[in-house]
Amino acid sequence: MAQEDVFKKIVAHCKEYGFVFPSSDIYDGLAAVYDYGQNGVELKNNIKQYWWQSMVLLHDNIVGIDSAIFMHPTIWKASGHVDAFNDPLIDNRDSKKRYRADVLIEDEIAKYDDKINKEVVKAAKRFKENFDEEKYRATSPRVLELQQKRDALHARYSAAMNAMDLNELRQIILDEEIVCPISGTKNWTEVRQFNLMFSTEMGSTADGAMKVYLRPETAQGIFVNYLNVQKTGRMKIPFGIAQIGKAFRNEIVARQFIFRMREFEQMEMQFFVRPGTEMEWFSKWKETRMKWHVNLGMGAENYRFHDHEKLAHYANAATDIEFNFPFGFKELEGIHSRTNFDLGNHQKFSGKKIEYFDPEENTSYTPYVIETSIGVDRMCLAVLAHSYTVEQLENGEERVVMRIPAPLAPIKVAVMPLVKKDGLPELAQKVVDELKYDFSYQYDEKDSIGKRYRRQDAIGTPFCVTIDHDSLQDGCVTVRERDTMTQERVRIEYLRALIDKKVSLTNLLRNL
Ligand code: GAP
Repeated sequence: MAQEDVFKKIVAHCKEYGFVFPSSDIYDGLAAVYDYGQNGVELKNNIKQYWWQSMVLLHDNIVGIDSAIFMHPTIWKASGHVDAFNDPLIDNRDSKKRYRADVLIEDEIAKYDDKINKEVVKAAKRFKENFDEEKYRATSPRVLELQQKRDALHARYSAAMNAMDLNELRQIILDEEIVCPISGTKNWTEVRQFNLMFSTEMGSTADGAMKVYLRPETAQGIFVNYLNVQKTGRMKIPFGIAQIGKAFRNEIVARQFIFRMREFEQMEMQFFVRPGTEMEWFSKWKETRMKWHVNLGMGAENYRFHDHEKLAHYANAATDIEFNFPFGFKELEGIHSRTNFDLGNHQKFSGKKIEYFDPEENTSYTPYVIETSIGVDRMCLAVLAHSYTVEQLENGEERVVMRIPAPLAPIKVAVMPLVKKDGLPELAQKVVDELKYDFSYQYDEKDSIGKRYRRQDAIGTPFCVTIDHDSLQDGCVTVRERDTMTQERVRIEYLRALIDKKVSLTNLLRNL
C-alpha cells in the first residue's frame, strides 16, 4: 500500500477509535485544529508524564513551571517574534490558494531525492547481492545528473532563505516551473512575509484595549520567569526550567493531520549555562534527548539528527531530531543553542537586570541557554503512526493492532469475564478492584472473546485478562499479550506484578 494510503488509514483509525477527532466535527471541522478523544488524551498524558519525569524527576537541577498563555505584548517585541516570526507566502492567482514559498521549493528538492532513491532501488533489484550502493551513487550518470540539479537548487534556496530574499524565492519557483497543485498553473503572485502570531484584545473598552498575542512558543514564559525561579529556588548555574503548555501559530500550510496544527502543545526546557560552555551542553542535550526517544523502542533507525543551515534569529547552533513519519523523515524535536539573546533582550526591553552572580568565577553574566523543544502532538503522531500495524493471521483474518510502547498505552489492561453469568462477572470485578489503583483498565463483557481482543488490539491495550469457569476453582486467569497474542494462566495475586513489569513508566525511566 502506498504510504499516502497508509497515512489516510491511520487518520481514519484515530477517529474511529477515539484517539483524535477533527475539532468542531459536527460543524465540519476547523482547519488544522484537532481534539483528543478518550484514548488520545491518555496517550498524550502518558507522553507528557514520560517527558516531565525524565526532566524534573531525574535531574535535581531542573524544575518546572506553568506560565500563562497571555503575556505582556512587549515580550514578543523583545523576543523578535513581532518582527521576525514570519513565513514567506505566495498565492496562485487562478486557484486563489496560498502556499509557503519555502515549502513549495522544499517539496521540489524532495522530488529530486525521491527520483534518486527510486534509481537506487531499481539498480539494487537489478544487481541483487552484487549491488554496491555507494559506488552506484558515485558513478551512475543519471543519479549524478539528478544529484547535481538537486544540490544546485538546494544551494540557491538556502542562500535565498538566509538572505530572506523574497524576489529570489519567487524566481526559483518560476525557474523550476513549479505549478499550483490545485490549478496546475504557474500564475504566481509576489512572495510576501506573513506573521504567524494570533492576536486578540485584552481589556473591556475599545479605548483601553491592549493588543495581546497568543504565545507562539512556551519558551518566553520561562525566560521572563528566569529571575523568579532562580531566586526563589536558589538555583545554581547550570540549571533548567521545564514547561508543558499550549502554543498557537497561524500556520499557512496546515496539513498532515496533527503534524502541523494551529493550536498545539509544546514540552520545552531551557537550560541556563555559563557563557562559553554552551556547545558542550548543546552536545549533551542532543545525546540525552535522542536517548529519550530511542528508549521507547520504536527503532533507532527511525530517528536522525538534521543540523539547521538557516538559524533562527536567536540561535548560534540548532539541530532537529527527525522521525521517520509515513510521509518521510520530518522534525519531531528541536534542540537550539539560543545564546543570551532572549535574556539579554528582556533585560533591555524591561529595564530589569537579568544576570547571575557566579561564585566560582566571581563574576556576573547573562546566562546562555540551550533549549530542547518537542511538540506533544507531533510525538503523539510519531507513536500512533509507528504503532499502526495490519497483520494477516493464520486463519485468514486481518488484525489491526496498535503496537504502542506499553508504558504509553492509553489502557493498560482489559478485564473480561468469559460469559455474563455463573459468577464470572463478580470475580472479574474483584480482579478490577485488584488492578484499578495501578493501571488504567477497561471492563468488557460484550461479544465473543475474539471480538473483544480485536477491540483492545485496535487501541493498543498490552494485556487482556479473561476470567473463565476454571478461575472460580483455581484462582487463575488467562493473560493474553497484545503483540505476540500468547496466552498464559496466572494466579490473580500475581497479575499486578506481571502487568507492571511491562507497562511501568518507572522501569522506562530507569533505562534512560
Ligand atoms: N521554542 C522553540 C520552538 O518553538 P520550533 O522548532 O518552532 O521551536 C518546536 O518548535 C517543536 O514544536 C517542533 O519540533 C514541533 O515538534 C512542535 N511544533 C512546532 N510547530 C508546530 C505546529 N504548528 N503543530 C504541531 N507541532 C508544532
